Parts: sequence; structure tokens; C-alpha cells
Amino acid sequence: MKKDVNKKQVVNPWEVYGDINYDKLIKEFGVSPLKDLPSVFNENILFRRKVIFAHRDIQRILEAVKNKKPFVMMTGLMPTGKFHIGHSIIAQQMIFWQSLGAKIYIAVADLEAYNARGQSLEESIKIAIEEYILNYIALGLKPKNCEIYFQSERSNNAEKSNAYYKLQNLLSRYATFNEFKAVYGEISPGKMLSALLQASDMLHPQLPEFENQIPVIVPVGIDQDPHLRLARDISQRIKNPKFIQLSSTYNLFLPGLNGGKMSSSDPTSYISLTEDPKEVEKKIKKYAFSGGQATIEEHRKLGGNPDIDVSFQYLKMLFEPDDKKLAKIEQDYKSGKLLTGELKEILIKKINDFLKEHQKAREQAKKQLDKFLIK
Ligand code: TRP
Repeated sequence: MKKDVNKKQVVNPWEVYGDINYDKLIKEFGVSPLKDLPSVFNENILFRRKVIFAHRDIQRILEAVKNKKPFVMMTGLMPTGKFHIGHSIIAQQMIFWQSLGAKIYIAVADLEAYNARGQSLEESIKIAIEEYILNYIALGLKPKNCEIYFQSERSNNAEKSNAYYKLQNLLSRYATFNEFKAVYGEISPGKMLSALLQASDMLHPQLPEFENQIPVIVPVGIDQDPHLRLARDISQRIKNPKFIQLSSTYNLFLPGLNGGKMSSSDPTSYISLTEDPKEVEKKIKKYAFSGGQATIEEHRKLGGNPDIDVSFQYLKMLFEPDDKKLAKIEQDYKSGKLLTGELKEILIKKINDFLKEHQKAREQAKKQLDKFLIK
């Protein structure tokens, strides 16, 4: 059964549940649909297939790319639980922006995990390295022009570190309590500080101790937009230092195996990047929500529905980069020629081929780790 249907939609930085209506979110949050991108973007399947579907102020970044001017890609990760295929959507964007010439800033949100999830800082370090950073490297992130830091330990360089924490404090003067309530709903002191620290994450690359004023693109899941709204608003109120307005892009959530949310706290909802091939097969066969019909006869007659079929969605969003092959699978599934079991076999093979290479690369990545961590 598909979980979570008919539940009220809740999407904010601390909670995501219910059936997600992206058109409604575009309107409610006031982000813009993403269209008419230069051709390099269409070489990337996340952009081409509208997995990245909305933005704020991306024009400034497109200009920087076109004119070969410097810009920063800044994003962050909450180091909790297993790194799963849903997380690889952000990782691929980091690598893509890096290939376009962006300087990369990545925040490990260990203080946010401490405040919002009750997780110790020690646990966060372990998970950040084992689950996130090693996978980023294995997926293709390069050490050149890339800084990965922990929120609890910005830098060993005191001037840089001071500037980052100072900014969080300076920004607080430009936000009101009512604004916090309006943006986040329920708010605690810890969450308020996390929001301000995230604002500093996104804005500090523009400080003189870092890159100076520079265009910054922040790719995130749509649940993070409240943080962007707040940071964008206060960044224009503070006059010293001055900030170029933040740009951002928003990606869809990869559906969980059961059609609801993919969540690191529920192993039946995800495929992790360290998953064993037998386990992948078992999980897809047992849990992947199918848009097919109840019996083979009915399926042959009526066909399946790829739009709600999780296996098809995984092929579309991640694992079948060839548009022609994907279109054929879609057609055959709709016509009833391709059965759910056959569709699942295609996906299992794709995922396991990918994981085999990836897991080798992840072992190699261990040797490179030092080059990525803050100095
Ligand atoms: N709040 C983000 C999350 O829950 C993590 C994060 C921290 C972040 N700082 C950031 C994301 C800066 C984007 C930009 O995943």
C-alpha cells in the first residue's frame, strides 16, 4: 500500500510528510518554475527531466557561467542515518556545478542535527564522513576548489572562523520573532539559532575573509526554502557587510520505495549506497510500489501507470540516462507489454551495476578524504 496518502501536506525544514503537491508549493513559497536553460544544463538528466524544477534568481548564476565569472555553489547536509539514493540527487548537483567552474562550499550541519534531532557531535562526525563525504567523493566530487566544513568547527583559521560565527550574530538583529513564526511555524531557541547559522552558511562565502561579494547558488530540496526566504530577506536589510542576493534551485524528493517519503529512519523506504546486491533485489521486489495492474491479464489489457510507479520513477530520475530507452520502457509499460516484474528486473540490474562500481570507488575515496576536510 502507498503510505501517507490523503494526509495533509506538510513541507518545512523540520518536517516533510503527506502527498506533496509541487505546483501548490511553487505558488505558496513564491519560487519560479525552471525553464529555458542553456544547453549544458540539458546534458544533465536532473535538469533535463525537471527533477530540478524551480529556482530563485538563477539568472545571475547563468550569467556568471556564460561570462566565465567566479561563483560559489553552497549547500549543506544533515548527517543523520544512511546515505541513500535520494541523497545522491544533491551530490550530483554539487559535482555538476563544480564542473561548470563553481567554487564548492559544503556545510555539515552537525549543530542543526544536535538541536533539531538530538544527535551528538561525535556521532555527526562519524556519519558525515562514512555516509556522506565518502559517497560524494566516490560520485565524483573533486578536492580542488572545494571546502567541506562542520558547523561546529568552521575553520582552523581564526579570522575565517570568527567571521562566520560573527555573521550569524549580526544577522539576528535583522530578523523579528514574528517573522520566524511566520516562516517556520513552531520554533525553539535551538531551531532559531540553526536557521541563523544556516543563513550564515549561505551568506558567509561573500565575506572579505572568504570570496568577497560573489554570486552564490544554493541547490536544495524544496523543504529548505523557508531558510532561503529568511536569509534572502535579512541579507538585503543588513547594509554592512553587503551581499549579492542568493540564488537557489529546488529538486523534487525521490519517492521512497513505498511511494511515500524516502527516509533514512525507515530501511524499507530506501536503497543505500552501501547496499548489498541481494538486498537491493529483495527490497525492490518486495517494497517498490507498482503502478501495474493486479493480475497479468489485466495488466496486458489495461497497462501500467509509470507516473506512480516507483521503479519507473527511479529509472527516470537517476538510473536510465538514455532518453530513447526510457521512452521505450514508458511506452511498453503503459501498453501492457512490459510487466511490473520485468520493469523491476531492469531497475535492479541498473542499480546493482551502478553500486558495484560505486562501492569500489568508495573504497578508493578513503585515501582522498584528507584533501577534503577543513584546514
Ligand atoms: N538544513 C539542511 C538540511 O536539513 C542542512 C544545511 C545546513 C544547509 N546549512 C545549509 C542546506 C546551507 C543548504 C545550505 O539538510
